[in-house]
Amino acid sequence: AARAVVTDQRCVRGKFPPDALPPLQCCPPASASEPVNFTLPDPAEPLRTRRPVHAVGAEYMAKYARAVALMKALPRSDPRSFYQQANVHCAYCTGSHRQAGRPDLGVQIHFSWLFFPFHRAYLYFFERIAAKLLGEPGFALPVWTWDVPEGMGIPEVFANEASPLYDPIREPSHAPPKVADLDYILGGGGEKNLTDEQQILHNFRVMYKQMISGATLPSLFLGQPYRAGDPEMPGAGTVEWIPHNTMHLWTGDNSRPNAENMGVYYSAGRDPIFYPHHANIDRLWESWRGIVGGRRRADFADPDWLDSSFLLYDEEARLVRITVRDVLDIGKLRYAYAGAGLPWLNARP
Ligand code: C2O
Repeated sequence: AARAVVTDQRCVRGKFPPDALPPLQCCPPASASEPVNFTLPDPAEPLRTRRPVHAVGAEYMAKYARAVALMKALPRSDPRSFYQQANVHCAYCTGSHRQAGRPDLGVQIHFSWLFFPFHRAYLYFFERIAAKLLGEPGFALPVWTWDVPEGMGIPEVFANEASPLYDPIREPSHAPPKVADLDYILGGGGEKNLTDEQQILHNFRVMYKQMISGATLPSLFLGQPYRAGDPEMPGAGTVEWIPHNTMHLWTGDNSRPNAENMGVYYSAGRDPIFYPHHANIDRLWESWRGIVGGRRRADFADPDWLDSSFLLYDEEARLVRITVRDVLDIGKLRYAYAGAGLPWLNARP
């Protein structure tokens, strides 16, 4: 029998770690109407090209900052507000949303095959909300490309205290120009103390292992199957573990008990760097499909994966049901990636 994980409209207060920072409730505003099924954007829409933060320039980053400021200025009851957008992530990681037909079980989108598709759908709407508020239909999210040397650290623009992109709850010792450590281990002895050149080479090797030599099968890259009724978090794919989780921990404030904001699921979406970070994760999924593609089928063909669905609000504040199947072709979603390259492609250790 089919066992796709289907998100129900019912949402409850989820599970938070000890010493979590409020709000400790992250369900979205109730929708007055039933969710509508997702439909693809008009194929005539301009293609949104997501480019690296380091490449787009200050004027473009000022646009992203303005979009975040506009979202922060919306009332908290508006599902498009920054407050509610951060809560979307919180709700899907604290088990707040219930599974359809299984009100005793929450939906968890980490450490399983739901990781990449959920975050793609989430960013898709976040980007369209930003574009709508800016009045720029072609606006595309900038990408924090921490796997290429020019992007290997928190971009300066996020460290400017006067910017809407600043978050005071980050690890101060990892402020720019510190080079990122892609397989960072939180806690004592976590800092590698390499030279910048050594760290970059180390990071390339990490990327090669996570994207190529360790990721030869869909389950290895995308994560383990997670079906309706299964215990949550059956197993993460290579990139979800490292560098995804590790870069969350590297960015969050290590002196806080849960490494807020970026270092823990419930608060990660509160930092405006979360979205460019996930644009990079999404870009790596697309890159991986190109690397393994041609030789074998890149994604799962399992209907339990394809029919899993999430409830998200769109740029018109309409509640939408979107499935994994809906997000597999980014061209049909009218966006693309450009401008970064894959400098680790030949970094076989
Ligand atoms: Cu949903 Cu980067 O975590």
